[in-house]
Parts: sequence; structure tokens; C-alpha cells
Amino acid sequence: MRNNIVLIGFMASGKTLIGRALARTTKRFFLDCDALIEGYTGYQVAEIFEYQKEARFRELERLTAHWLERSVGNAVIATGGGMPTTCDNLRRIGETLYLECTFETVANRLKNAIEREKRPLAQSLEILQKRFLEREPIYKNAADRIIDANGSIEYILGDIIAG
Ligand code: S3P
Repeated sequence: MRNNIVLIGFMASGKTLIGRALARTTKRFFLDCDALIEGYTGYQVAEIFEYQKEARFRELERLTAHWLERSVGNAVIATGGGMPTTCDNLRRIGETLYLECTFETVANRLKNAIEREKRPLAQSLEILQKRFLEREPIYKNAADRIIDANGSIEYILGDIIAG
């Protein structure tokens, strides 16, 4: 069991994209926590935020993190951007890698309306920046390794695999 890699970082830091590629390269399974919650509840993340509110979503994240800790091995796991703020067991799931991006990178990626639509907390740039600043120290604190995630996917993957 174990042998997991847990990707943490802000919205649009590339956790899902890099996670999928890293899983293929390292022959692990890929799990995305937002997708796990959607499968578990039958609702999309945006619907959970709208109808059941953020507190319920955070509860579902903790439930997911506990399941991952008890039940999952040999996987690359993309967390939701808020998980390090509410889940204290991420390091027990696997090695945590913080995909560190500048706010400019994040804001640029979230210019795309489709990317914004999936994320209820990405509607206003000011609120986004406030959360970004609040979370930076939390991500650093939860990280076993910090990866510069501003560049190309090939570069980021190379960096992760080089150890
Ligand atoms: C959130 C990030 C989202 C998703 C939800 C809340 C956050 O995941 O879990 O919208 O609080 O940062 P991504 O980091 O995959 O966008």
C-alpha cells in the first residue's frame, strides 16, 4: 500500500493535467478529488457549493481524504485547491508535492471561461487573490517538496521525476 503522490496547490496550478501525465509516466493510477466527490454525491462541485454551501463541500473533502488514507495505494492524487486548509492527513496519504505558481500564472489560466465555470471560488479576481495570499503559507507548510509549476508540462514533469 501507499506509494502515493499527492499534488497540492492553488486552483489552476495544473494538479489534474500534471497528475494525469505523472500517473502515466510512473505507472500509477490517477485520482482527482473533485471527481471523487462528484462520483460519491452525484452532484458537480459547483452544484454542491450552490445548494449545500462551502462547509458541506469541505466536509466531503475530509471524508475523501480519510478514505484515501485508509484505502488507496500506488496512485497520483490531485487534491482540490482547498484541501490543505481543512484536511490534516494529506502527508499520511503520500508524498505531498506543492505545485507552486505565481498569481499571474493562475489568473492567466483562469481567463478561460470554461476553466472558471467549474470553480465557484474563481468568479472574482480580487477574492481569488485574497485566497491565494492566505493559502501560500498553508501549501508550503503541507509540502514535502515544492515544484515550480509556472513552466511547460514537460519541464514540470521532468523536475518532479528528477526528484
Ligand atoms: C477549490 C478548488 C477546486 C474545487 C473547489 C474549491 C478551492 O479545485 O475543489 O472549487 O477551494 O481552491 P481545483 O483546485 O482543482 O480547481
